[in-house]
Amino acid sequence: MLTKLLKVCCNARQCIFAKPFEAMPGPRGPFGLGNLYNYMPGIGAYSWLRLHKAGQDKYDKYGSIVRETMVPGQDIVWLYDPKDIATLLNERDCPQRRSHLALAEYRKQRPHLYKTTGLLPTNGPDWWRLRAQVQKELSAPRSVRSFVAEVDGVTREFLNFLQRSEGSGASIDMLPKLTRLNLELTCLLTFGARIESFSPTEQHANSRSTRLMHAAETTNSCILPTDQGLQLWRYVETPSYRRLRQAQSYMESVALELLEQTMEEGSSRSSLIAAYIQNPQLDHLDVIGTSADLLLAGIDTTSYASAFLLYHVARHPEVQQRIYEEALKVLPRAEQALSADALRTDITYTRAVLKESLRLNPISIGFGRVLNQDTVLSGYFVPKGTTVVTQNMVACRQPQHFPEPLRFLPERWLQQRNALNPYLVLPFGHGMRACIARRLAEQNMHVLLLRLLRNYELIWRGRADAELDIVTLLINKPDAPVLIELRSRTD
Ligand code: HEM
Repeated sequence: MLTKLLKVCCNARQCIFAKPFEAMPGPRGPFGLGNLYNYMPGIGAYSWLRLHKAGQDKYDKYGSIVRETMVPGQDIVWLYDPKDIATLLNERDCPQRRSHLALAEYRKQRPHLYKTTGLLPTNGPDWWRLRAQVQKELSAPRSVRSFVAEVDGVTREFLNFLQRSEGSGASIDMLPKLTRLNLELTCLLTFGARIESFSPTEQHANSRSTRLMHAAETTNSCILPTDQGLQLWRYVETPSYRRLRQAQSYMESVALELLEQTMEEGSSRSSLIAAYIQNPQLDHLDVIGTSADLLLAGIDTTSYASAFLLYHVARHPEVQQRIYEEALKVLPRAEQALSADALRTDITYTRAVLKESLRLNPISIGFGRVLNQDTVLSGYFVPKGTTVVTQNMVACRQPQHFPEPLRFLPERWLQQRNALNPYLVLPFGHGMRACIARRLAEQNMHVLLLRLLRNYELIWRGRADAELDIVTLLINKPDAPVLIELRSRTD
């Protein structure tokens, strides 16, 4: 009732019940000059690469809502309370994001190739026009299911690739391999193209697939340094902007090449881009921009998430046994193809395993919005235009939300699912701006898990003395090699 009353009052410019924005606890930096210095290497206590640690520190010091002044006039409000996260994500109108600013600038410099700055950085009606047109093929369950056979085919090739590359008994460094899998899947589903990234010739440093993998990671790792702080790249080409420009230029050239190939093949192969080309509401530049977006967004996201998934599974033989039992139901014979119908049978436990892995290791610490209206959060007035970022990863590791929060327990999603707050585990975001490829990414990871566990036992060969932690390169990457031995099952 009180929350409702507060919301009504805050439709006006000032809220008579809310505490003022200035009173919100949090670091403002020395003399109010901002806390950016605290992220400088060798000077500050925080690091862009360890944002979850900075997030935990702020939570411990200031509580469940924090206002951090980065430079004067540029604040970030951090949210840890699921009630506030729900308020933020249920905003009316087009939700706005303030990220990928340098990528947006790069695209603005190329009006002959891009009509908008793309799905990731664009806001307002331009964003919605594009999103409304491209989301059907990417998100609708029927469309996503139509990709199962292709995903399964590539995943089986991937298992052969793993076996070939390391031989039996050896530890495999999984992340670079998983990146090849997701690169191959992204190109296949987006363009209907195979880029043969498992082949021996593609393993070289200068091959197209290796360069693409590097270009995606380089672009992602340049987003935070160019989004935050003084944004000097707007005036001179800073090293971060240059790296982003070069990486994007390469990704763009491959996107254009694959797009041309798709257009030459016409409708003979089904793919997302083939469908967009046919859509009269999208013009050629929209299709180029979407190709570039999907290539960028599709590779590292699912690779890092899959790497954490295999890390958790490899360390829990009892979890593997239960996935294996489900894998036997969908794949009674290991060599048979996996069908969309088979995936509709009960794989509840496999789904719970993925959800639990994403609870502990989401690929983003949370997600951001720029408020499009004055809002009250935790009783504080927060003005329209403020950047607000959720801290789901830190919140998901608090004992008041999850018993034994640091334990990997997929069973919690089977037993007490309804008791868990739905605004805590949001690895794909929420609302109109949530991940456009959520179902597709989940499906790809279910197929991987079922295929892998149907054929192998996984033995953890990585760091034994400590948990795997993360480095944040915009998205959260394992901070040490994900070393796993595969032992063939005999049945
Ligand atoms: C495990 C895999 C993935 C995870 C965890 C993930 C997570 C996310 C998150 C957290 C967001 C921001 C949501 C928000 O602000 O509310 C997002 C946005 C987005 N994702 Fe994903 N993602 C994954 C895979 C993919 C893939 C495979 C693609 C494309 C092939 C993709 C394309 C996008 C796009 C285009 C957006 C921007 C949507 C918009 O602003 O309208 N993602 N993703």
